[in-house]
Amino acid sequence: MRVNHTGEVCAQALYQGQALTAKLPGVRAEMEQAAQEEVDHLAWCHERLQQLDSRPSVLNPIFYAASFAVGAGAGAISDRISLGFVAATEDQVCAHLQRHLGELPPEDTASRAIVEQMHIDEDSHRQSALRAGGLQFPEPVKKTMTLVSRLMTESVSRI
Ligand SMILES: [Fe+2]
Ligand SMILES: [Fe+2]
Repeated sequence: MRVNHTGEVCAQALYQGQALTAKLPGVRAEMEQAAQEEVDHLAWCHERLQQLDSRPSVLNPIFYAASFAVGAGAGAISDRISLGFVAATEDQVCAHLQRHLGELPPEDTASRAIVEQMHIDEDSHRQSALRAGGLQFPEPVKKTMTLVSRLMTESVSRI
């Protein structure tokens, strides 16, 4: 759940960075709705972490800063790259949540409900970013993103 929480911290940063620099004509409202759903996700993860007597990762400020920079940077280059980055990121997130669902104990219904709803929302964020003209990233870029997300998952689950 700590990994999910950090993911949602990154989502805040990514969408905020994007909102700052991307033009997003015609799709700004849609992107803002996605960003609002990320706020909900962060709140759910935060609450669940507390219920589980755990704590957020100490690495969150670093991940926030990095994601903000990437979101703002991608938005500054072009909307298509910015939206493509959202789509590719949500793709990674969906894969992670799917894996996490497989590992969660069946009796932890509270965590499962959160992860399941997040999976639905993230998939719809991915689809709307692509519909809005997001670029499909080439395979090597996706592979690199998978590597980065693995590193993030590993480090955050420890500290
Ligand atoms: Fe999210
Ligand atoms: Fe999302």
